[in-house]
Amino acid sequence: MKAALSGLLFSRKMLWVAFLMLRLWGCHGDFTYSIPEEMKPGAVVGNIARDLGLDNGGLSLRSARIELKGSRKRYCDLNLKTGELMIAEKIDREEMCGSKTCSLKYELVMESPLELHEIILQIQDINDNSPHFPSDEIKLSIPESAVKGARFSLDMAKDSDVGRNRVQSYTLGRNDHFSISVHSNADGVKYSELVLDKELDREEQQELSLLLTAVDGGSPQRSGSATIHVTVLDANDNRPVFSQPVYKVSLSEDSPVSTLVLTVSAVDADEGANGEVTYAFSLVSDKAARLFTIDNVNGEIKVAGPVDYEDETDYEITVQAKDGVGLASSAKVIIDVTDVNDNAPVIYVKSLKNPVPENAAVGTEVGIINVQDDDSEGNYQMSCTIQQNVPFKLISSIKNYYSLVTTGELDREEIADYNITIIATDGGSPPLSSSKIIKLSVSDVNDNPPVFEEQSYSAYVSENNKPGSSVCSVTARDPDWRQNGTVFYSLLPSEVNGVPLSSYLSINGDTGMIHAVRAFDYEQFRSFKVQVVARDNGSPPLSSNVTVSVFITDENDNSPQILYPTPEGNSFMTEMVPKAALSGSLLSKVIAVDADSGQNAWLSYQIVKSTDPGLFTIGVHSGEIRAQRDISESDSMKQNLVISVKDNGQPSLSTTCAVYLLISDNLAEVPELKDMSYEENNSKLTSYLIIALVSVSTFFLTFIILIIAVRLCHRRKPRLLFDGAVAIPSAYLPPNYADVDGTGTLRSTYNYDAYMTTGSRTSDFKFVQSYNDNTLSAGNTLQKHPLDNSDCLDFTDAGSKFSTLVNVF
Ligand SMILES: *[C@@H]1O[C@H](CO)[C@@H](O)[C@H](O)[C@H]1NC(C)=O
Ligand SMILES: *[C@@H]1O[C@H](CO)[C@@H](O)[C@H](O)[C@H]1NC(C)=O
Ligand SMILES: *[C@@H]1O[C@H](CO)[C@@H](O)[C@H](O)[C@H]1NC(C)=O
Repeated sequence: MKAALSGLLFSRKMLWVAFLMLRLWGCHGDFTYSIPEEMKPGAVVGNIARDLGLDNGGLSLRSARIELKGSRKRYCDLNLKTGELMIAEKIDREEMCGSKTCSLKYELVMESPLELHEIILQIQDINDNSPHFPSDEIKLSIPESAVKGARFSLDMAKDSDVGRNRVQSYTLGRNDHFSISVHSNADGVKYSELVLDKELDREEQQELSLLLTAVDGGSPQRSGSATIHVTVLDANDNRPVFSQPVYKVSLSEDSPVSTLVLTVSAVDADEGANGEVTYAFSLVSDKAARLFTIDNVNGEIKVAGPVDYEDETDYEITVQAKDGVGLASSAKVIIDVTDVNDNAPVIYVKSLKNPVPENAAVGTEVGIINVQDDDSEGNYQMSCTIQQNVPFKLISSIKNYYSLVTTGELDREEIADYNITIIATDGGSPPLSSSKIIKLSVSDVNDNPPVFEEQSYSAYVSENNKPGSSVCSVTARDPDWRQNGTVFYSLLPSEVNGVPLSSYLSINGDTGMIHAVRAFDYEQFRSFKVQVVARDNGSPPLSSNVTVSVFITDENDNSPQILYPTPEGNSFMTEMVPKAALSGSLLSKVIAVDADSGQNAWLSYQIVKSTDPGLFTIGVHSGEIRAQRDISESDSMKQNLVISVKDNGQPSLSTTCAVYLLISDNLAEVPELKDMSYEENNSKLTSYLIIALVSVSTFFLTFIILIIAVRLCHRRKPRLLFDGAVAIPSAYLPPNYADVDGTGTLRSTYNYDAYMTTGSRTSDFKFVQSYNDNTLSAGNTLQKHPLDNSDCLDFTDAGSKFSTLVNVF
């Protein structure tokens, strides 16, 4: 095929040569040849000799030579033999002339004669160069925002050939976005522009590769190509897009701070800063803004404060996502707060009757309780209870309201204060409860009378007490409060022995101390009773009373009193003693009484002086004077004895008396009796005795008159009056005795006791012969008897009677 091609080329050269020779022939010496470039060395351009009309040897004869002007290269040689101009070295038109018209000018010099011809060798272009781009790859960066029709100039392709062999056109490989537009500049050079036919989207396609081909107009045609590498540049044409338009989330109200609530996320398709999303709350209530925070980078919404269902049950927040350039979009976040049983019920005391009077009826409403719980539904169902051991209960009235009522009697004196614990429990799981203590006081009502500590009181006061001395103290207690329990004492007015009680006793109203107002006399009365009233200060007041028995105890304030022998100093009171009286025979008896009682009235007798000591003895307790030995003739006829009678009190009191004894069988023998009495040196003693007896008698007399008057006055009935004379002989001679019984009634017509031993319980008048069983047993009774007779005064009792039997003589 190559051989065929070169054959073709050769035949074309032949045609050209013929054509040029014909043309040049007429130019008179100057020869112009036109040859294509790139001919092989040795190729014949033309036959100069023939064109000059010379013979085959003619050129060599004339020493013809050719010279190329201005170049050291020859490119062609002249064959002198044949006269042919031949290619000596390959001619590259592009190298030699570039884009200009290319020709070589030779001078043909011949000698003999010198002849100069110009030979012009015109070099014709052949399409031996392909178009080519400066680089195989054309890089283009086109923003995606570029509009349709935008043009982007492209590098030109180069082709060293000229004319039609230059680049004639550009083509672009198939694609969706671009087309090519080809232009020629002033020099006729073709260039191309890339035209955007359809907008780019970086997010769809980031890069494109296009094949750009340049073709020339030669024949055969040549082409060159390059790859256009289009990088689509990002434009901030996308907003951030949230993954959901609305986010809904539930949040338990007890969530602690920094609990993650949810994460919102928005995506921006753009690149770089255009695609960097930041988050923020855009529409948010102040409250929600305090409770939640959003992380502006990762979109995490977290709890920032105490979320309380009872405060707000849901929050709606608009969240905005913004890219770096400022395109934004928003989404809604709804946070539902769920209730947790975090609120214990609260107990309110709406009203309270405090204090409650202790006499409040069972079922009295004392207070109203209200229970509230902020939680919802199940967490809200409540129950309310009270502790068991109090006399109160709760009655559920209206919803969540309870009445506190009494279930039993209240007694302030037993329990004055109650701490009532109310417990409210809700229905949550776990249930919460709370409690409240209500302090309730019970107020006093005067429901307790004063109560004496003892059922009755007895007081013992010795007679001759000092006025104002305390007798006894009574105490009454009242458990009520303050004035309802303040006790005042008083004596119930009455009379004692016809005299108002107040002149005997007084009471300290505050302390209950009973004082004597005057001195008491045992011999006057021995006991009496008073009623003490204790009254509180309530309104109305309550009172109670108690009996105080006052017993007056005896003191030895009365001396023994001699009844016989009469202390009048009567010298006739002389005892006759038979001369033949034997040892031990009863000769006489001293009779004495004592107004006191008991030991104080227990008398003892003693001979303190005698004419003939040893002749007589006296019974210590009986007062009987007996002969100690047989009386003899030698004994003096007149015998005087001084006898002391002493009671047993502390200190004891005593009285003395004189006894005159006459030892004689015949009264006629009695000489000067008078002398006898005066003979004694005891006239002083006698006068004392007389004074004593008279005064005692007077006292008793007065006293008896008084008593009888009282009795009469009381009974309005005539009483026996006794013979008031202190006539001892007539008194002791009758062999009867008087008895005053417990009722004070005289049983006998004659009463010694009444005036002699008032108040005596015992008498020591004891005569051996005249003893009577009754009087003995009664006389020995020394004990006190309870005073139970209706009279205020007790003169005698059964055991106090004494008998006086004077029949000794
Ligand atoms: C009630 O409670 C108080 C203390 O709050 C206590 O001093 C008092 O003794 C209590 N009373 C009763 C009856 O429990
Ligand atoms: C005493 O009792 C009366 C009712 O009997 C009552 O009204 C009053 O308040 C009580 N006084 C005190 C100090 O409690
Ligand atoms: C003394 O108390 C008794 C009951 O204890 C009562 O019957 C009597 O009336 C009271 N007397 C006075 C004077 O209050």
